[in-house]
Amino acid sequence: MVVSLYDRLGGYDAIGEFAGRLISGAQSDSLLGRFWGHRADDRNARDLQMLIDYLVRETGGQMYYTGRDMALTHAGMGITDIDWARFIEIVIQVAGELGVGELEGAEVLAFLDGLKGDIVTAG
Ligand code: HEM
Repeated sequence: MVVSLYDRLGGYDAIGEFAGRLISGAQSDSLLGRFWGHRADDRNARDLQMLIDYLVRETGGQMYYTGRDMALTHAGMGITDIDWARFIEIVIQVAGELGVGELEGAEVLAFLDGLKGDIVTAG
């Protein structure tokens, strides 16, 4: 039986923890924090839930994602290659903190790499 990445990452709560640390790491980062300036707390809470739902669906969990697609969501933000590299560093750091396995970590990075073209729209 093929076990989904969702299950191998530890299911909903583990993905929730991962997403929460990722967003707070990005929001408090000196380079990336600018993308989340001037926002109410409920907006941040909604974004976190959207990220969790998206990741649950994409990794094979049971979820009907109601958010926007990645290109539409990040259009016009001017996210650069340097921003992306920093984001990936935070992903790797959080994966390390949570003890994500080597294989699962590599699958997450490959999945993210597939999204890069939709999200990085500036040099
Ligand atoms: C440098 C990388 C990234 C930056 C700076 C960034 C920034 C943001 C910001 C500022 C928002 C809020 C937009 C809004 O409320 O209108 C957002 C929403 C979102 N982002 Fe990202 N993001 C990045 C990468 C990613 C990646 C890799 C994923 C997926 C794995 C992702 C998934 C989402 C989702 C699901 C939403 C909410 C969608 C919705 O509101 O419908 N983001 N992002």
